[in-house]
Amino acid sequence: MKFFIDTANLDQIKEAQDMGILDGVTTNPSLMAKEGITGHDNIMKHYVDICNIVDGDVSAEVISTDVEGMIKEGEALAELHEQIVVKLPMIKDGVKACKYFSSKGIKTNVTLVFSAGQALLAAKAGATYVSPFLGRLDDISTDGLNLISEIRHIYDNYGFETQILSASVRHTMHVIDCAKIGSDVMTGPLSSIEGLLKHPLTDIGLAKFLADYKKGN
Ligand code: G3P
Repeated sequence: MKFFIDTANLDQIKEAQDMGILDGVTTNPSLMAKEGITGHDNIMKHYVDICNIVDGDVSAEVISTDVEGMIKEGEALAELHEQIVVKLPMIKDGVKACKYFSSKGIKTNVTLVFSAGQALLAAKAGATYVSPFLGRLDDISTDGLNLISEIRHIYDNYGFETQILSASVRHTMHVIDCAKIGSDVMTGPLSSIEGLLKHPLTDIGLAKFLADYKKGN
């Protein structure tokens, strides 16, 4: 499973990259605003800064809601850097724009996906990635992981190549559960990745090894 980090924070991106386990980055307008990155030119520069830190795909989201606007914006984003993936909302015009970009060989990520039907449409439109938001479903008493399983099942039935990018991952168990289901990618905060490191028996065992080494030296 590929690990993407879901942030526009350059320090956190660098930290994940330095661990050697990072496969890409996802951003959205809310994550940009959280880092105080506002205004078209600053946002475009920030995408390039992110691409210069990581080796993999970097999702950059359009803010237009009509197909013409999405195509214009998406083309400008794709021009910025070869690692940019054009992120499009799951609305009718987003599906049309996805089809346009996939026919041109430009990578896409269809976002704000909350149902298996929406994921099916994204795959039909040739999306590179589909982003089901599992945490936001959990927030409203709906099983987000069940949606990931449904999409996995449907895509496997037909051999769709669209990669399931489990998004709105909130914690480490989401990461492990996504891996069990067979999600192609997960995107979450740095804390969800760092949580994978933790086990008290590792800490206890290491402390004992080091103490025993000291006894003999
Ligand atoms: O990748 C999608 C993500 O940014 C949404 O996460 O935690 O705001 O639901 P969250």
